[in-house]
Amino acid sequence: MDLQIRRATPDEAEALTALAHAAKRHWGYPEEWIDHWRTDLTITSDFIAANEVFVATIDDEIAGCCALVLSEKLTELEHMWIDPKHMRKGIGRALFEHTKRRAEELGWNTLELTADPNAESFYERMGANRIGEVPADVLGKSRVLPRMRIELNRGVTP
Ligand SMILES: CC(C)(COP(=O)(O)OP(=O)(O)OC[C@H]1O[C@@H](n2cnc3c(N)ncnc32)[C@H](O)[C@@H]1OP(=O)(O)O)[C@@H](O)C(=O)NCCC(=O)NCCS
Repeated sequence: MDLQIRRATPDEAEALTALAHAAKRHWGYPEEWIDHWRTDLTITSDFIAANEVFVATIDDEIAGCCALVLSEKLTELEHMWIDPKHMRKGIGRALFEHTKRRAEELGWNTLELTADPNAESFYERMGANRIGEVPADVLGKSRVLPRMRIELNRGVTP
């Protein structure tokens, strides 16, 4: 398996949006929820141009992605999506580690994220801890998402 990680390019927006939908559907959510989340599951070319979005490829085919989103006070991991046919092969870990190293290289002390409840155990395996909950009701159903943080080794170079 030839796993590579590189920056996404804006022309990959459609492919990454399709990947996000496929990965989210993997948890078996009702289709009306997927439709309700359409905006959250859309990765635009503007987003790719404005943020560090990474893709993992296997034999040159996109197998996963994630994004490092920087603001003045916070660095966040978003859009962690693995193609269901490539889950549980270590690609999520490779993307997470890559993004973590990049945040460290940029001098950040912490990396935060809001997790899908089904992905919380994965992020725990990556060393993240729950620091709170984010309300995320969907179509009248009460729902909360774990807010998580990982401490970084500031100053580490890749
Ligand atoms: C969650 C997700 C990103 C994990 O990616 P992955 O490539 O399958 O994970 P990896 O193979 O790199 O797994 C790394 C470790 O996490 C564990 N792990 C992965 N998915 C897990 C899960 N759903 N529950 C518990 N542990 C999990 C693996 O067993 C592995 O542990 P190990 O180090 O002891 O061997 C992927 O399943 C996914 O895209 N899910 C659907 C979309 C989603 O919810 N994304 C996150 C949005 S916040």
